[in-house]
Formats: sequence, C-alpha cells, structure tokens
Amino acid sequence: MEGRGLIQTENVSISFGGIHAVSDLNMGVCQGQIVGIMGPNGAGKTTVFNLLTGVYAPTSGKIYVNGIGMEGKSMDQFVKAGVARTFQNIRLFGNMTVLENVMVSVANKGRISLKNSLFKTEYYIRRQNEVKNEAFELLKLFDLHAKAQVLAGELPYGQQRQLEIVRAFATGAKVILLDEPAAGMNPTEIMKLKCDLRQLVDRMGLSLVLIEHHMDLVMGLCDYIYVLDFGKVICQGTPREVQRNPKVISAYLG
Ligand SMILES: Nc1ncnc2c1ncn2[C@@H]1O[C@H](COP(=O)(O)OP(=O)(O)O)[C@@H](O)[C@H]1O
Ligand SMILES: [Mg+2]
Repeated sequence: MEGRGLIQTENVSISFGGIHAVSDLNMGVCQGQIVGIMGPNGAGKTTVFNLLTGVYAPTSGKIYVNGIGMEGKSMDQFVKAGVARTFQNIRLFGNMTVLENVMVSVANKGRISLKNSLFKTEYYIRRQNEVKNEAFELLKLFDLHAKAQVLAGELPYGQQRQLEIVRAFATGAKVILLDEPAAGMNPTEIMKLKCDLRQLVDRMGLSLVLIEHHMDLVMGLCDYIYVLDFGKVICQGTPREVQRNPKVISAYLG
C-alpha cells in the first residue's frame, strides 16, 4: 500500500513470554478505506488492535498515526489522535441510558474541568447541554434516538453492538477498529450493520478496520484485507486476491 495513511505500522512485533503474538506487521489504513483483518482464532487479530490503540507497546517496530510516531503514547493519546475501537465483548455502561453512554464519549472529547463541574458554572451547564444535543444527534444518525432513555443493558443485542460503534464514533475518531462486530448477530442485524458501516465511511469520511469471520461482510465491505496466521501476515490484497490465495484456503480449511 503506497503512501503514509492514517495508520501505518513498520515491522511491528510483540511477544508474550515465548509467544510471538504478532510478527513484523506492516499494515496501512488510508482515509475512507475499510481494511479487514482475517485469520483463525489465536492468530493475533485482537493483539493488533491492542497495539493500534496503545494498550500494548510493540516489542519492536513502529506505529504511526497521521504520520506521527506513537512510541510511548498512552491509550488516551491514541484516542486524541483519532483512533477508537469496539471490543470483541460488549463494553457498555449497562445501567446508564443509551444517551448517557454516548454523552460520556462526547464529553471526554473536550474534558470538563473539575472546577467547572463542582460549582456547576454557567459554562458547565451550557457545555453539558451541548454534549447532550451532540449525543442525541449521533443517535439519530443510527436510528437509535427513540431508545435514548432506555438502559443500555436492556437493548437487544444487535443494538448494543451498534451503540458501541456510536460511542467510538462520538470520541471524534477518524478511524474505528471493530473487533468482530457481527458476532452473535442475526442476519437482519448483520444487514443493518453493513449499511451503518458503509454510511460511516461514505457520509462521514471515516476509515474502518474490521476483524470479522462473516465472509460476506468482510468480502462485501473491505477494500483491502490482511490475513494473519500465527501472528504473521500470510496474505494481503483485495477481497478477490485474498479469496483466491491457496494459503488462505489452507489456513481456513486446515
Ligand atoms: N496479554 C497477553 N498475555 C499473553 N498472551 C497473550 C496476551 N494477549 C494475547 N496473547 C496471545 O497472543 C495470541 C494471539 O491472541 P489474539 O490476538 O487474542 O488472537 P485472535 O484475536 O486472532 O483470536 C494468542 O496465542 C494469545 O494467547
Ligand atoms: Mg480476537
């Protein structure tokens, strides 16, 4: 992939004890692109996300976000740089409302200082209203606004996953990393997810990195795919190229 994109890694590796979870990863994500990461369980896919969000520092190699080296940067700084994610297992505030869940992400963008929140200054109240309105507008984009006052934990499964994506988007992200977003979804929910993801890219200009096992979702959405096995990229290319690759076929069938 030519040029420096939003995200670029250079020979990124990480090992845990003796296990090389990710080895010599060179991947790029450009603006407006949907990049897929495929591979069997334990291949290192989630570890890649942990590296790209500052959860783990690479054992060796470099990660650039918008051309800036991310060595020594905290998870917070990755978010500020525009990288957000969702998790393989849903992580919402289950006993907060749908709206409040999104408000937390919106508010984190422009931190409200303790002084302002203690004294409920005019600024704080105005800012709080802005956050609420922005959160509600975001929910509208994904047809979740009718559920704004419902507790997040009481949403149907597919909508919880959707809400996670809205929360990631609400951080002001330029790129969202989605860890198996369709896991546990029924076919109708998967179709809705596909449309939502398309919309994030086409209308909001976002970039996505997608870890997914649902072939039609990956092949139908992604511009470019990396296939991992035992922490190494065994194949990369367009969906057509990847589908024809014998190594991919054997990793999946064997
Ligand atoms: N924090 C960790 N400590 C030790 N081993 C880990 C850790 N995180 C991941 N691994 C190991 O790295 C490998 C890749 O895991 P993971 O990235 O979760 O795979 P995938 O998401 O592709 O299923 C596995 O062997 C896993 O046990
Ligand atoms: Mg995983």
